[in-house]
Amino acid sequence: MSRTVYVNGQYVPESEASISVFDRGFLFADGIYEVTAVLNGRLMDFEGHVARLHRSLNELNMHLTLNDNALRDIHRQLIEKNDLQEGLVYLQVTRGVADRDFAYPDASTPVTLVAFTQQKAIIDSPLAERGLRVISLPDMRWGRRDIKTVQLLYPSMAKMEAKKRGADDAWLVESGLVTEASSSNAWIVDHDNTLITRELSRSLLHGITRRAVMQLARQHDMKVEERGFTIKEAQNAREAFVTSATSLVYPVISIDQRSVGDGTPGDIAKALRRLYIEAGLSVSSSEAEQGA
Ligand code: PDD
Repeated sequence: MSRTVYVNGQYVPESEASISVFDRGFLFADGIYEVTAVLNGRLMDFEGHVARLHRSLNELNMHLTLNDNALRDIHRQLIEKNDLQEGLVYLQVTRGVADRDFAYPDASTPVTLVAFTQQKAIIDSPLAERGLRVISLPDMRWGRRDIKTVQLLYPSMAKMEAKKRGADDAWLVESGLVTEASSSNAWIVDHDNTLITRELSRSLLHGITRRAVMQLARQHDMKVEERGFTIKEAQNAREAFVTSATSLVYPVISIDQRSVGDGTPGDIAKALRRLYIEAGLSVSSSEAEQGA
């Protein structure tokens, strides 16, 4: 089925959607994006994603004239027009169209805004059932990973290297410590059941799912520590897992071919995944009741 996508104020069939070859997103990767999960036809953690969108825009001096209600409306319209029950909405903003020049164009140049839906089985995910096998790789990305830019070549290369070695994903390591996974935040659970994930800085993306899972864990009296950890500590941990909008929580069962715990998805990762889905579905249904 052909999707309806959003391009600069218009909803068009995907086959008719186009942007200029002079778009700075295309020429310079001069753009930012957000991915929001959709469960049961409703958006998960939308406020968090929009807040981070504004942060990314500010850090790059990009100006979006649409307000948050308009952004929410675009998301909802896309969900409705594409009859999306489960999957994601992708939103991208670039610095717009200008002659090729490293310097930014005049600030009055309108940004390009594109959004589309993608179906994905998020709740019944085979990877969540089986758990991920990950490898470690050096983190060779740029120094502002807190900005969600569309320059994703190194994460793509890391994912391909993982696949080549028979694994699912890569955990990226800098100065001996794990920063995050190629497209999710990395966590371990120690033998006292404390959850450990890297502290926020410019070295990693400030995951919206990371924050939501952290809140859920604390509400359920789990201890959370924000600090770096080594691959060795992760291999010897009780459990490991990752969080992101499209995976929610995926257990990690091996790192560099060494089993984590007993080599099957850990109980805490499974419980957090279940709690997060329940929370998402209950917010979704209360929004639905309000006709939101
Ligand atoms: N990726 N770290 C990186 C490098 C990411 O690309 C992502 C998300 C995350 C998790 O952030 P969040 O919980 O807000 O989704 C962490 C998205 C899903 C993507 O690029 O498709």
